[in-house]
Amino acid sequence: MNTRPDFSKHANHAATAPAYFSVWDLHAYYGESYIVQGVNFNVHEGEILALLGRNGAGKTSTLRAIARMDSPQVNHGEIWLDHQPLHTMRAHQAAMAGIGLVPEDRCIIPGLTVEENLQLAQIAPPVGWSIQRLYELFPRLGERRKQEGVTLSGGEQQMLAIARALARDIKVLLLDEPYEGLAPVIVDEIEKTLIHIKELGITTVIVEQNAIRALELADRAVILDTGQIVFDGLASEVLDDAALRAEYLAI
Ligand SMILES: Nc1ncnc2c1ncn2[C@@H]1O[C@H](COP(=O)(O)OP(=O)(O)OP(=O)(O)O)[C@@H](O)[C@H]1O
Ligand SMILES: [Mg+2]
Repeated sequence: MNTRPDFSKHANHAATAPAYFSVWDLHAYYGESYIVQGVNFNVHEGEILALLGRNGAGKTSTLRAIARMDSPQVNHGEIWLDHQPLHTMRAHQAAMAGIGLVPEDRCIIPGLTVEENLQLAQIAPPVGWSIQRLYELFPRLGERRKQEGVTLSGGEQQMLAIARALARDIKVLLLDEPYEGLAPVIVDEIEKTLIHIKELGITTVIVEQNAIRALELADRAVILDTGQIVFDGLASEVLDDAALRAEYLAI
């Protein structure tokens, strides 16, 4: 087994047992543009972490760096998930190690039905939830199993994107703006599902412009500003601190 970094040596980390999922001193670039500037955070197993910040703060870039996408390029730092060094991996290996990224544009595959989108996710191991179980979690998807995925409503497409992540055996769900463009009643429905997923022990990192909704859901929060962490604490602390929200979230 790989040894984990001793975070207790670093001032930014409390001298506690290493977390289930840790991002340590992550730096990433798009070409010459230095975007992720030394990001640190820990997530405990089964926890929901809200990753917040203004437009352009580096939230999407951080998620992409964690999922080991080709860009931004990580040139320093470590990412550990359940004793596995994601920073040494390519995107497909990180996916096999348990990272499930649901990107902002949802990436439903055109020309495929709902069911085919889910089957495609299960074409290679490690397979997660059965399609039947996913339809129990999202009955709307079961009703529309034969419909082309891209013709679903925005909320249904978000459900399909989350279902497709769960169709693989994931340890951490990374959600980029899952509530974007959705009516409050649909946000309620997706939120209920995320609470259910948490109860089943899956760890979630949620990036959301709708920071209040994300904070009400999350256990803890980190706030990014120009690629650096400026707050790390309980979600309730952010909800209770109007000055902090005004400064970094403009709400
Ligand atoms: N492919 C890219 N090439 C160059 N710069 C990029 C690229 N993608 C993002 N950036 C820049 O990186 C910075 C952070 O962008 P990122 O998308 O991570 O922000 P974000 O916090 O997700 O913002 P938003 O809330 O608007 O989604 C921005 O200044 C953005 O212009
Ligand atoms: Mg973004």
